[in-house]
Amino acid sequence: KRIAIFASGSGSNAQKIIEHFQKNKEMEVSIVLSNRPDSYVLQRADNFEIPTHVFDRDEFYQTDDTIKLLQSLNIDLIVLAGFLWLVPGNLIKAFPNKIINIHPALLPKFGGKGMYGNRVHKAVLEAGEQESGITIHYVNEHFDEGEIIHQSKYKIEPNDDVDMIAYKGQQLEHQHYPKVIENLLKKISK
Ligand code: GRF
Repeated sequence: KRIAIFASGSGSNAQKIIEHFQKNKEMEVSIVLSNRPDSYVLQRADNFEIPTHVFDRDEFYQTDDTIKLLQSLNIDLIVLAGFLWLVPGNLIKAFPNKIINIHPALLPKFGGKGMYGNRVHKAVLEAGEQESGITIHYVNEHFDEGEIIHQSKYKIEPNDDVDMIAYKGQQLEHQHYPKVIENLLKKISK
């Protein structure tokens, strides 16, 4: 089974996913794609000798080139890991129920356009939440609205700041995303 990871930033989730499947004979990360030529996730992929592909808005939204690339690689699952652009309808149609995302809050709260990174954690603290967590969900044509696959929670302590809850969330992401991906791939027939 073959995984494509889309990321826009550092790629710590991508790294954990790549490491998780390194010893797996049946599943592999076949390619890492980014919309940002300078994103560190590309460096991480290079370190593992995993092919990368950088695309711009024109390719991603005006052509089928990205889709054709993924189909040519026989990708079974598309994993968004800190990918900040909306996924276009033609990509969703080409990979129905095969695109997933991770969000650093307990959707449906604290999600949607522009809600990413520390903006999410600031909103959670300002709302006075006692807990937060992560959500792994299928991707549809709206930010953070697809069917939820997995959620994990952490408690928010009185003097937790944005950095602390971001850290707690990231720990859960690294712990759960690879396993959720593995379980989904086991279910995908082919
Ligand atoms: C994570 O917080 C994830 O929930 C969100 O973007 C961040 C990606 O972090 N979608 P990294 O690039 O994997 O370190």
